[in-house]
Amino acid sequence: NKRIKIKHLLDSGKVGEQVTLMGWVRTKRSNKNVAFIALNDGSTIHNYQVVADPNAISEDLLKKVTTGACIKVQGEIVASQGSGQSTELTVNTLEILGEADPEKYPLQPKKHSMEFLRENAHLRMRTNTFGAVFRVRHALAFAVHKYFNDKGFFYIHTPIITSSDAEGAGETFKVTTLDLKNPPLNENGDINYKEDFFEREANLTVSGQLEGELAAMALSEIYTFGPTFRAENSNTTRHLAEFWMIEPEMAFYDAEDNQDLAEDFLQYVIAYALENCKEDLEFLDKRAAEEEAAKKADQRSDMGLLERLQFVTQNSFERITYTEAIEILRNSKPNKKKKFSYLIEEWGADLQSEHERFLVEKHFKKPVILTDYPKEIKSFYMRQNEDGKTVAAMDILFPGIGEIVGGSQREERLDKLTQRMDELDIPQKEMWWYLETRKFGATPHAGFGLGFERLVQFVTGMGNIRDVIAFPRTPGNVEF
Ligand code: 4AD
Ligand code: MG
Repeated sequence: NKRIKIKHLLDSGKVGEQVTLMGWVRTKRSNKNVAFIALNDGSTIHNYQVVADPNAISEDLLKKVTTGACIKVQGEIVASQGSGQSTELTVNTLEILGEADPEKYPLQPKKHSMEFLRENAHLRMRTNTFGAVFRVRHALAFAVHKYFNDKGFFYIHTPIITSSDAEGAGETFKVTTLDLKNPPLNENGDINYKEDFFEREANLTVSGQLEGELAAMALSEIYTFGPTFRAENSNTTRHLAEFWMIEPEMAFYDAEDNQDLAEDFLQYVIAYALENCKEDLEFLDKRAAEEEAAKKADQRSDMGLLERLQFVTQNSFERITYTEAIEILRNSKPNKKKKFSYLIEEWGADLQSEHERFLVEKHFKKPVILTDYPKEIKSFYMRQNEDGKTVAAMDILFPGIGEIVGGSQREERLDKLTQRMDELDIPQKEMWWYLETRKFGATPHAGFGLGFERLVQFVTGMGNIRDVIAFPRTPGNVEF
Protein backbone atom coordinates (compact mmCIF):
# COMPACT_ATOMS: atom_id res chain seq x y z
CA ASN A 1 0.00 0.00 0.00
CA LYS A 2 1.01 3.52 -0.87
CA ARG A 3 2.25 6.20 1.48
CA ILE A 4 -0.39 8.66 2.67
CA LYS A 5 0.18 11.95 4.45
CA ILE A 6 -0.87 12.39 8.06
CA LYS A 7 -3.14 15.30 7.10
CA HIS A 8 -4.97 13.04 4.68
CA LEU A 9 -5.20 10.27 7.26
CA LEU A 10 -6.68 12.65 9.86
CA ASP A 11 -9.17 14.06 7.33
CA SER A 12 -10.39 10.82 5.81
CA GLY A 13 -8.66 7.72 7.21
CA LYS A 14 -11.00 4.93 8.35
CA VAL A 15 -10.60 2.39 11.15
CA GLY A 16 -9.55 -0.95 9.67
CA GLU A 17 -7.63 0.57 6.74
CA GLN A 18 -4.06 -0.50 6.03
CA VAL A 19 -1.77 2.47 5.44
CA THR A 20 1.88 3.42 5.13
CA LEU A 21 3.21 6.56 6.82
CA MET A 22 6.62 8.15 6.49
CA GLY A 23 7.87 10.95 8.67
CA TRP A 24 10.13 12.17 11.43
CA VAL A 25 9.94 10.93 14.98
CA ARG A 26 9.08 13.65 17.47
CA THR A 27 9.09 11.48 20.59
CA LYS A 28 9.02 7.86 21.68
CA ARG A 29 7.68 6.56 25.00
CA SER A 30 8.09 2.88 25.62
CA ASN A 31 7.98 0.13 28.20
CA LYS A 32 8.23 -3.67 27.98
CA ASN A 33 4.79 -4.02 26.48
CA VAL A 34 4.34 -1.13 24.12
CA ALA A 35 6.09 1.74 22.33
CA PHE A 36 4.25 4.97 21.46
CA ILE A 37 5.83 6.96 18.64
CA ALA A 38 4.69 10.50 17.83
CA LEU A 39 5.24 10.88 14.10
CA ASN A 40 5.12 14.09 12.06
CA ASP A 41 5.45 14.45 8.30
CA GLY A 42 4.98 18.23 8.02
CA SER A 43 1.58 17.99 6.34
CA THR A 44 -0.14 19.18 9.53
CA ILE A 45 0.65 20.53 12.99
CA HIS A 46 -0.60 17.23 14.46
CA ASN A 47 1.63 14.29 15.22
CA TYR A 48 0.14 10.88 14.59
CA GLN A 49 0.40 8.23 17.25
CA VAL A 50 2.07 5.06 16.05
CA VAL A 51 1.93 2.08 18.40
CA ALA A 52 4.51 -0.71 18.17
CA ASP A 53 4.50 -4.00 20.02
CA PRO A 54 8.07 -4.76 21.19
CA ASN A 55 7.32 -8.48 20.74
CA ALA A 56 6.58 -7.93 17.05
CA ILE A 57 9.27 -5.35 16.21
CA SER A 58 12.87 -6.17 17.02
CA GLU A 59 14.51 -4.40 19.93
CA ASP A 60 17.42 -3.27 17.71
CA LEU A 61 15.05 -1.58 15.33
CA LEU A 62 13.03 0.13 18.08
CA LYS A 63 16.24 1.44 19.62
CA LYS A 64 16.88 3.42 16.45
CA VAL A 65 13.48 5.09 16.67
CA THR A 66 14.74 8.26 18.31
CA THR A 67 13.76 11.93 18.14
CA GLY A 68 14.67 13.24 14.69
CA ALA A 69 14.94 9.84 12.97
CA CYS A 70 13.03 9.32 9.74
CA ILE A 71 10.91 6.17 9.60
CA LYS A 72 8.45 4.29 7.44
CA VAL A 73 5.65 2.39 9.14
CA GLN A 74 2.99 0.18 7.69
CA GLY A 75 0.00 -0.93 9.69
CA GLU A 76 -3.68 -0.69 10.50
CA ILE A 77 -5.72 2.30 11.63
CA VAL A 78 -7.41 1.42 14.92
CA ALA A 79 -9.59 3.31 17.36
CA SER A 80 -7.36 4.92 19.97
CA GLN A 81 -7.64 4.21 23.70
CA GLY A 82 -5.78 7.40 24.55
CA SER A 83 -7.39 10.79 25.02
CA GLY A 84 -5.29 12.85 22.58
CA GLN A 85 -6.54 11.32 19.35
CA SER A 86 -9.46 9.32 17.96
CA THR A 87 -7.35 6.86 15.95
CA GLU A 88 -3.80 5.56 15.91
CA LEU A 89 -1.68 3.19 13.86
CA THR A 90 -0.82 -0.34 14.97
CA VAL A 91 2.49 -1.17 13.34
CA ASN A 92 2.99 -4.29 11.23
CA THR A 93 6.35 -3.33 9.75
CA LEU A 94 8.76 -0.57 10.63
CA GLU A 95 11.74 0.60 8.63
CA ILE A 96 14.37 3.15 9.61
CA LEU A 97 14.93 5.50 6.63
CA GLY A 98 17.42 7.78 8.37
CA GLU A 99 18.83 7.51 11.86
CA ALA A 100 19.41 10.53 14.12
CA ASP A 101 22.02 9.97 16.81
CA PRO A 102 20.28 11.17 19.99
CA GLU A 103 23.64 12.35 21.38
CA LYS A 104 24.11 14.68 18.43
CA TYR A 105 20.67 15.68 17.13
CA PRO A 106 20.24 19.33 18.15
CA LEU A 107 16.44 19.39 18.51
CA GLN A 108 15.41 17.76 21.73
CA PRO A 109 11.78 17.30 22.68
CA LYS A 110 11.73 20.45 24.83
CA LYS A 111 11.32 24.19 24.31
CA HIS A 112 14.32 25.70 22.54
CA SER A 113 15.04 29.44 22.46
CA MET A 114 14.37 31.29 19.21
CA GLU A 115 18.05 32.26 19.04
CA PHE A 116 19.08 28.62 19.23
CA LEU A 117 16.60 27.70 16.52
CA ARG A 118 17.86 30.53 14.28
CA GLU A 119 21.37 29.08 14.56
CA ASN A 120 19.82 25.77 13.51
CA ALA A 121 17.74 27.13 10.66
CA HIS A 122 18.57 24.01 8.63
CA LEU A 123 16.52 21.94 11.10
CA ARG A 124 14.08 24.37 12.68
CA MET A 125 11.32 23.69 10.16
CA ARG A 126 10.91 20.37 12.00
CA THR A 127 9.48 22.13 15.06
CA ASN A 128 5.77 22.77 15.60
CA THR A 129 6.20 26.53 15.53
CA PHE A 130 8.17 26.69 12.30
CA GLY A 131 6.08 24.03 10.62
CA ALA A 132 3.02 26.17 11.34
CA VAL A 133 4.72 29.40 10.20
CA PHE A 134 5.79 27.96 6.86
CA ARG A 135 2.43 26.37 6.14
CA VAL A 136 0.77 29.74 6.83
CA ARG A 137 3.40 31.51 4.69
CA HIS A 138 2.56 29.17 1.83
CA ALA A 139 -1.17 29.79 2.21
CA LEU A 140 -0.63 33.56 2.18
CA ALA A 141 1.49 33.37 -0.97
CA PHE A 142 -1.19 31.29 -2.63
CA ALA A 143 -3.89 33.77 -1.51
CA VAL A 144 -1.90 36.66 -3.03
CA HIS A 145 -1.89 34.97 -6.43
CA LYS A 146 -5.52 33.93 -6.11
CA TYR A 147 -6.66 37.43 -5.22
CA PHE A 148 -4.98 39.09 -8.17
CA ASN A 149 -5.75 36.30 -10.61
CA ASP A 150 -9.45 36.44 -9.73
CA LYS A 151 -9.39 40.21 -10.35
CA GLY A 152 -7.75 39.86 -13.78
CA PHE A 153 -4.31 41.16 -12.78
CA PHE A 154 -1.30 39.66 -14.57
CA TYR A 155 1.75 38.37 -12.72
CA ILE A 156 4.87 40.04 -14.12
CA HIS A 157 8.40 38.84 -13.40
CA THR A 158 10.63 41.86 -13.06
CA PRO A 159 14.43 41.53 -13.18
CA ILE A 160 16.49 40.65 -10.13
CA ILE A 161 19.62 42.20 -11.62
CA THR A 162 19.21 45.79 -12.75
CA SER A 163 21.09 49.04 -13.00
CA SER A 164 18.46 51.22 -11.31
CA ASP A 165 17.88 52.06 -7.67
CA ALA A 166 14.12 52.46 -7.78
CA GLU A 167 13.76 53.96 -4.33
CA GLY A 168 16.81 56.16 -4.77
CA ALA A 169 17.93 55.32 -1.26
CA GLY A 170 21.37 54.06 -2.30
CA GLU A 171 21.05 50.80 -0.43
CA THR A 172 21.84 48.43 -3.25
CA PHE A 173 23.98 45.31 -3.34
CA LYS A 174 26.43 45.49 -6.22
CA VAL A 175 26.63 42.74 -8.81
CA THR A 176 29.96 42.32 -10.53
CA THR A 177 32.21 39.69 -12.05
CA LEU A 178 35.30 41.88 -11.77
CA ASP A 179 38.19 40.75 -9.61
CA LEU A 180 37.86 43.49 -7.01
CA LYS A 181 41.36 42.80 -5.64
CA ASN A 182 42.77 43.75 -8.99
CA PRO A 183 40.10 45.63 -10.96
CA PRO A 184 40.58 47.24 -14.37
CA LEU A 185 40.94 51.00 -13.98
CA ASN A 186 40.11 53.91 -16.27
CA GLU A 187 42.19 57.07 -16.86
CA ASN A 188 40.93 58.63 -13.61
CA GLY A 189 42.02 55.60 -11.61
CA ASP A 190 38.40 54.52 -10.97
CA ILE A 191 37.14 50.99 -11.56
CA ASN A 192 36.36 50.58 -15.24
CA TYR A 193 32.93 48.98 -15.29
CA LYS A 194 32.96 48.96 -19.10
CA GLU A 195 34.99 45.78 -18.67
CA ASP A 196 32.43 44.26 -16.30
CA PHE A 197 29.90 41.61 -17.37
CA PHE A 198 27.11 44.10 -18.11
CA GLU A 199 29.56 46.78 -19.29
CA ARG A 200 28.24 49.07 -16.56
CA GLU A 201 27.50 49.01 -12.84
CA ALA A 202 24.74 46.64 -11.83
CA ASN A 203 22.95 45.80 -8.61
CA LEU A 204 20.28 43.58 -7.10
CA THR A 205 16.81 45.10 -7.36
CA VAL A 206 15.36 47.03 -4.41
CA SER A 207 11.88 47.07 -5.97
CA GLY A 208 10.17 45.88 -9.14
CA GLN A 209 8.00 48.98 -9.27
CA LEU A 210 9.52 50.91 -12.15
CA GLU A 211 9.41 47.89 -14.45
CA GLY A 212 5.93 47.14 -13.06
CA GLU A 213 4.81 50.61 -14.18
CA LEU A 214 5.98 49.84 -17.71
CA ALA A 215 3.90 46.67 -17.68
CA ALA A 216 0.82 48.45 -16.32
CA MET A 217 1.10 50.90 -19.24
CA ALA A 218 0.42 47.90 -21.49
CA LEU A 219 -1.59 45.32 -19.54
CA SER A 220 -3.55 47.77 -17.30
CA GLU A 221 -3.39 45.81 -14.06
CA ILE A 222 -0.35 43.79 -13.04
CA TYR A 223 1.47 42.65 -9.92
CA THR A 224 4.94 41.45 -9.12
CA PHE A 225 5.85 39.01 -6.33
CA GLY A 226 9.54 38.46 -6.03
CA PRO A 227 12.67 38.85 -3.94
CA THR A 228 14.06 42.32 -3.31
CA PHE A 229 17.33 43.29 -1.69
CA ARG A 230 18.35 46.17 0.53
CA ALA A 231 21.73 46.77 2.04
CA GLU A 232 20.36 48.93 4.84
CA ASN A 233 22.30 48.18 7.95
CA SER A 234 19.28 47.90 10.21
CA ASN A 235 19.45 45.13 12.74
CA THR A 236 15.81 45.26 13.76
CA THR A 237 12.97 42.76 14.12
CA ARG A 238 11.34 44.25 10.97
CA HIS A 239 14.18 44.38 8.42
CA LEU A 240 15.75 41.80 6.16
CA ALA A 241 18.45 42.29 3.52
CA GLU A 242 16.51 39.90 1.27
CA PHE A 243 12.72 40.05 1.45
CA TRP A 244 9.80 39.28 -0.81
CA MET A 245 7.62 42.08 -2.04
CA ILE A 246 4.24 42.13 -3.75
CA GLU A 247 3.83 45.18 -5.98
CA PRO A 248 0.56 45.72 -7.83
CA GLU A 249 0.52 48.54 -10.36
CA MET A 250 -2.66 49.78 -12.02
CA ALA A 251 -3.31 52.08 -14.93
CA PHE A 252 -6.32 54.41 -14.50
CA TYR A 253 -6.21 54.23 -10.67
CA ASP A 254 -5.98 57.34 -8.54
CA ALA A 255 -4.76 57.53 -4.94
CA GLU A 256 -8.14 56.60 -3.48
CA ASP A 257 -8.60 53.60 -5.80
CA ASN A 258 -5.14 52.50 -4.68
CA GLN A 259 -6.11 52.74 -1.01
CA ASP A 260 -9.34 50.83 -1.61
CA LEU A 261 -7.46 48.05 -3.40
CA ALA A 262 -4.77 47.77 -0.72
CA GLU A 263 -7.34 47.53 2.07
CA ASP A 264 -9.48 44.98 0.25
CA PHE A 265 -6.41 42.92 -0.66
CA LEU A 266 -5.01 42.84 2.88
CA GLN A 267 -8.37 41.87 4.33
CA TYR A 268 -8.75 39.14 1.73
CA VAL A 269 -5.41 37.43 2.29
CA ILE A 270 -5.77 37.56 6.08
CA ALA A 271 -9.31 36.14 5.87
CA TYR A 272 -7.97 33.44 3.56
CA ALA A 273 -5.41 32.38 6.17
CA LEU A 274 -8.06 32.41 8.91
CA GLU A 275 -10.24 30.15 6.78
CA ASN A 276 -7.55 27.80 5.49
CA CYS A 277 -4.98 27.59 8.31
CA LYS A 278 -7.27 27.11 11.31
CA GLU A 279 -5.22 24.53 13.17
CA ASP A 280 -1.87 26.22 12.59
CA LEU A 281 -3.29 29.60 13.63
CA GLU A 282 -4.87 28.13 16.76
CA PHE A 283 -1.47 26.76 17.67
CA LEU A 284 0.22 30.11 16.93
CA ASP A 285 -2.49 31.93 18.88
CA LYS A 286 -1.63 29.92 22.01
CA ARG A 287 2.05 30.48 21.40
CA ALA A 288 1.54 34.24 21.04
CA ALA A 289 -0.54 34.28 24.24
CA GLU A 290 2.35 32.68 26.14
CA GLU A 291 4.74 35.30 24.77
CA GLU A 292 2.36 38.09 25.75
CA ALA A 293 1.99 36.72 29.26
CA ALA A 294 5.77 36.93 29.68
CA LYS A 295 5.76 40.66 28.84
CA LYS A 296 5.31 43.54 31.28
CA ALA A 297 1.65 44.44 31.80
CA ASP A 298 1.87 47.82 30.03
CA GLN A 299 3.46 46.27 26.95
CA ARG A 300 0.88 43.55 26.50
CA SER A 301 -1.45 43.78 23.55
CA ASP A 302 -5.14 43.89 24.47
CA MET A 303 -6.08 41.42 21.73
CA GLY A 304 -5.06 37.82 21.11
CA LEU A 305 -3.66 36.82 17.72
CA LEU A 306 -6.84 35.32 16.27
CA GLU A 307 -8.94 38.12 17.70
CA ARG A 308 -6.68 40.70 16.07
CA LEU A 309 -6.77 38.95 12.69
CA GLN A 310 -10.55 38.79 12.79
CA PHE A 311 -10.76 42.42 13.84
CA VAL A 312 -8.61 43.56 10.92
CA THR A 313 -10.67 41.66 8.36
CA GLN A 314 -13.95 43.02 9.73
CA ASN A 315 -13.23 46.69 10.38
CA SER A 316 -12.31 49.31 7.85
CA PHE A 317 -8.92 50.98 8.16
CA GLU A 318 -8.59 54.56 9.43
CA ARG A 319 -7.51 57.00 6.71
CA ILE A 320 -5.76 60.21 7.72
CA THR A 321 -3.30 62.60 6.13
CA TYR A 322 0.25 63.13 7.34
CA THR A 323 -0.74 66.66 8.42
CA GLU A 324 -3.58 65.31 10.57
CA ALA A 325 -1.27 62.67 12.05
CA ILE A 326 1.28 65.30 13.02
CA GLU A 327 -1.44 67.29 14.82
CA ILE A 328 -2.47 64.21 16.79
CA LEU A 329 1.12 63.35 17.66
CA ARG A 330 1.97 66.85 18.83
CA ASN A 331 -0.90 66.71 21.28
CA SER A 332 -0.22 63.19 22.57
CA LYS A 333 2.04 61.21 24.81
CA PRO A 334 2.61 57.46 24.51
CA ASN A 335 1.48 57.17 28.15
CA LYS A 336 0.85 59.35 31.18
CA LYS A 337 4.43 59.38 32.39
CA LYS A 338 6.37 59.30 29.13
CA LYS A 339 6.92 61.59 26.16
CA PHE A 340 7.93 60.36 22.72
CA SER A 341 11.69 59.95 22.63
CA TYR A 342 11.62 61.92 19.36
CA LEU A 343 9.26 64.90 19.35
CA ILE A 344 7.83 66.05 16.04
CA GLU A 345 8.28 69.79 16.24
CA GLU A 346 8.04 70.81 12.63
CA TRP A 347 5.77 69.90 9.77
CA GLY A 348 7.91 67.88 7.37
CA ALA A 349 9.65 65.58 9.83
CA ASP A 350 9.39 61.86 9.16
CA LEU A 351 7.47 59.68 11.60
CA GLN A 352 9.47 57.25 13.69
CA SER A 353 8.21 53.79 14.51
CA GLU A 354 7.16 54.92 18.02
CA HIS A 355 4.78 57.41 16.38
CA GLU A 356 3.41 54.89 13.92
CA ARG A 357 2.79 52.39 16.70
CA PHE A 358 1.13 55.02 18.85
CA LEU A 359 -1.32 55.94 16.09
CA VAL A 360 -2.22 52.32 15.35
CA GLU A 361 -2.06 50.67 18.75
CA LYS A 362 -3.10 53.45 21.14
CA HIS A 363 -4.93 56.21 19.29
CA PHE A 364 -7.04 54.55 16.59
CA LYS A 365 -6.62 50.93 17.69
CA LYS A 366 -6.92 49.75 14.08
CA PRO A 367 -4.85 49.75 10.87
CA VAL A 368 -4.18 53.25 9.60
CA ILE A 369 -3.67 54.45 6.02
CA LEU A 370 -1.51 57.54 6.23
CA THR A 371 -1.62 59.71 3.11
CA ASP A 372 -0.21 62.87 1.54
CA TYR A 373 3.28 63.01 3.01
CA PRO A 374 5.68 65.93 2.49
CA LYS A 375 7.42 65.38 -0.83
CA GLU A 376 10.86 65.77 0.77
CA ILE A 377 10.55 62.49 2.68
CA LYS A 378 9.18 60.41 -0.21
CA SER A 379 10.45 59.06 -3.55
CA PHE A 380 10.79 61.02 -6.79
CA TYR A 381 8.05 59.11 -8.64
CA MET A 382 5.16 60.08 -6.36
CA ARG A 383 2.51 62.40 -7.78
CA GLN A 384 2.69 65.96 -6.50
CA ASN A 385 -0.45 67.36 -4.93
CA GLU A 386 -1.93 70.78 -5.74
CA ASP A 387 -0.53 72.30 -2.52
CA GLY A 388 3.01 72.03 -3.95
CA LYS A 389 4.22 70.55 -0.64
CA THR A 390 2.82 67.05 -0.45
CA VAL A 391 2.66 63.96 -2.64
CA ALA A 392 -0.10 61.37 -3.15
CA ALA A 393 1.69 58.77 -1.01
CA MET A 394 0.19 56.19 1.29
CA ASP A 395 1.73 54.07 4.01
CA ILE A 396 -0.36 51.42 5.71
CA LEU A 397 0.46 50.89 9.36
CA PHE A 398 -0.47 47.70 11.20
CA PRO A 399 -0.60 46.91 14.92
CA GLY A 400 2.58 45.24 16.17
CA ILE A 401 4.27 45.77 12.80
CA GLY A 402 4.24 49.44 11.87
CA GLU A 403 4.62 50.06 8.12
CA ILE A 404 3.42 47.04 6.15
CA VAL A 405 2.63 48.77 2.83
CA GLY A 406 4.13 51.75 1.02
CA GLY A 407 2.65 53.11 -2.18
CA SER A 408 1.39 56.11 -4.12
CA GLN A 409 -0.27 57.51 -7.15
CA ARG A 410 2.58 58.04 -9.64
CA GLU A 411 3.62 61.28 -11.28
CA GLU A 412 2.42 60.82 -14.86
CA ARG A 413 3.07 64.46 -15.94
CA LEU A 414 6.42 64.57 -17.72
CA ASP A 415 7.26 68.16 -16.78
CA LYS A 416 6.57 67.66 -13.08
CA LEU A 417 8.46 64.37 -13.03
CA THR A 418 11.60 65.68 -14.74
CA GLN A 419 11.57 68.79 -12.55
CA ARG A 420 11.49 66.60 -9.43
CA MET A 421 14.26 64.36 -10.78
CA ASP A 422 16.42 67.41 -11.40
CA GLU A 423 15.81 68.66 -7.86
CA LEU A 424 16.92 65.28 -6.53
CA ASP A 425 19.87 64.91 -8.93
CA ILE A 426 18.46 61.79 -10.54
CA PRO A 427 19.97 61.60 -14.03
CA GLN A 428 17.25 61.73 -16.69
CA LYS A 429 19.57 60.17 -19.21
CA GLU A 430 19.76 56.88 -17.34
CA MET A 431 16.00 56.79 -16.78
CA TRP A 432 15.09 57.45 -20.42
CA TRP A 433 13.04 54.27 -20.65
CA TYR A 434 10.98 55.26 -17.61
CA LEU A 435 10.41 58.75 -18.95
CA GLU A 436 9.19 57.41 -22.28
CA THR A 437 6.03 56.07 -20.59
CA ARG A 438 5.29 59.73 -19.75
CA LYS A 439 5.84 60.72 -23.36
CA PHE A 440 3.87 57.99 -25.12
CA GLY A 441 0.35 57.27 -23.95
CA ALA A 442 0.78 58.47 -20.39
CA THR A 443 -2.14 58.03 -18.01
CA PRO A 444 -2.78 58.37 -14.28
CA HIS A 445 -1.71 55.22 -12.48
CA ALA A 446 -0.94 54.01 -8.98
CA GLY A 447 0.46 51.08 -7.04
CA PHE A 448 1.89 49.87 -3.78
CA GLY A 449 4.37 47.44 -2.26
CA LEU A 450 3.55 44.96 0.49
CA GLY A 451 6.47 43.49 2.42
CA PHE A 452 5.52 39.81 2.39
CA GLU A 453 7.47 38.88 5.53
CA ARG A 454 5.81 41.70 7.47
CA LEU A 455 2.45 40.26 6.43
CA VAL A 456 3.52 36.77 7.51
CA GLN A 457 4.71 38.25 10.80
CA PHE A 458 1.37 39.91 11.38
CA VAL A 459 -0.62 36.78 10.60
CA THR A 460 1.56 34.35 12.58
CA GLY A 461 2.25 36.70 15.49
CA MET A 462 5.99 36.01 15.28
CA GLY A 463 7.94 38.78 16.98
CA ASN A 464 11.04 38.67 14.75
CA ILE A 465 11.03 38.86 10.95
CA ARG A 466 13.93 36.35 10.90
CA ASP A 467 11.48 33.69 12.03
CA VAL A 468 9.06 33.95 9.09
CA ILE A 469 11.54 33.36 6.25
CA ALA A 470 13.31 30.02 6.00
CA PHE A 471 16.84 31.37 5.63
CA PRO A 472 16.99 35.00 6.76
CA ARG A 473 19.57 37.35 5.29
CA THR A 474 20.61 40.03 7.75
CA PRO A 475 23.92 41.77 8.46
CA GLY A 476 26.45 39.00 9.03
CA ASN A 477 24.08 36.14 8.13
CA VAL A 478 24.49 34.39 4.80
CA GLU A 479 25.85 30.95 5.73
CA PHE A 480 22.83 28.86 4.70
O1 4AD B 1 8.06 51.51 1.28
P1 4AD B 1 8.93 50.76 0.31
O2 4AD B 1 10.38 51.07 0.28
O3 4AD B 1 8.25 50.99 -1.11
C1 4AD B 1 8.71 50.54 -2.32
O4 4AD B 1 9.67 49.83 -2.49
C2 4AD B 1 7.81 50.92 -3.45
N1 4AD B 1 8.57 50.74 -4.70
C3 4AD B 1 6.57 50.07 -3.42
C4 4AD B 1 5.61 50.40 -4.53
O5 4AD B 1 4.96 51.44 -4.47
N2 4AD B 1 5.49 49.55 -5.53
O6 4AD B 1 8.78 49.21 0.58
C5 4AD B 1 7.50 48.60 0.52
C6 4AD B 1 7.30 47.65 1.69
C7 4AD B 1 7.39 48.30 3.07
O7 4AD B 1 6.16 48.91 3.40
C8 4AD B 1 7.70 47.13 3.95
O8 4AD B 1 6.56 46.37 4.24
C9 4AD B 1 8.60 46.30 3.06
O9 4AD B 1 8.34 46.67 1.73
N3 4AD B 1 10.02 46.50 3.35
C10 4AD B 1 10.80 45.61 4.02
N4 4AD B 1 10.52 44.40 4.54
C11 4AD B 1 11.52 43.73 5.14
N5 4AD B 1 12.78 44.18 5.20
C12 4AD B 1 13.12 45.38 4.68
N6 4AD B 1 14.39 45.80 4.74
C13 4AD B 1 12.11 46.15 4.04
N7 4AD B 1 12.08 47.35 3.41
C14 4AD B 1 10.81 47.53 3.01
MG1 MG C 1 8.17 52.84 2.82
